[in-house]
Amino acid sequence: MNNLNGERSWVEVAMYDELPVNSGKTVRFKDKELAIFRLTSGKILVIENRCPHKDGVLAEGIVSGEYVFCPLHDRKIDLSSGLVQNPDTGCVKTFDVSIENGKVYIDLLEKSEIAS
Ligand code: FES
Repeated sequence: MNNLNGERSWVEVAMYDELPVNSGKTVRFKDKELAIFRLTSGKILVIENRCPHKDGVLAEGIVSGEYVFCPLHDRKIDLSSGLVQNPDTGCVKTFDVSIENGKVYIDLLEKSEIAS
């Protein structure tokens, strides 16, 4: 599955109905380790799975709204933007998601790669 200019790299990673609600799941694909979150709103958001502080596994964090709290030292990360919230700093990569016929696809190109 590609966009019009063929630059994307979509991979099927899960069945939507099998994802746990309001928590994360680790997905590995080639050299990437991603955290996929199915929110109570039904939205799916995907970020890289390692905290920029000391590599906490973000899929194991506590989800609150559209944020996840790192399980190691509780930094708060916006699942949409990947930004670590004040007073801490940093960010994680985010990935586009598509849901078709009950299947969840992730674009392995990070959003920053697409924009450049
Ligand atoms: S490793 Fe995530 S807050 Fe420290």
